[in-house]
Amino acid sequence: MTKKEKYEEILPQVVAMIEGESNVVSVMANVSAALHEAFGWWWTGFYTVNGDRLELGPFQGPVACYRIKRGRGVCGTAWDRDETLIVPDVEQFPGHIACSSLSRSEIVVPVHDAQGNVVAVLDIDSKDLNTFDQTDKLFLEKLTEELGKTMEWC
Ligand code: SME
Repeated sequence: MTKKEKYEEILPQVVAMIEGESNVVSVMANVSAALHEAFGWWWTGFYTVNGDRLELGPFQGPVACYRIKRGRGVCGTAWDRDETLIVPDVEQFPGHIACSSLSRSEIVVPVHDAQGNVVAVLDIDSKDLNTFDQTDKLFLEKLTEELGKTMEWC
């Protein structure tokens, strides 16, 4: 199965799973679990916006740092620029925060509330270089769009 086919199979299931749910923590937990299990990534989870920093949210994978300042690391930069970042080699990204030395590439996708504010980021790490591409961006942005719409972010 190609990556695109896998997303096409998984995404409707994940969207159906979050439909009608409003507890953001529960939903982020289940979304992390579903994606992590389907794709076998190294780390899959969320950081949520709190004031001028991101705080660790529900995730699957090894323990991670609790807080990330705005503009710091890949997550803080994706939030600050309000755009999805694909990092083929984390060692080439200035200021990358190495929660795990085994993480080699990553993608970070902002999550917006109904007003368009960034309320969280979806952070996915791989143990391999060059794991993420435009296919991941396309489908993960679709997913975070659904997340942003359905949740009551505070
Ligand atoms: N990779 C992130 C740090 C979080 S961990 O990877 C879970 C970054 O540089 O923003």
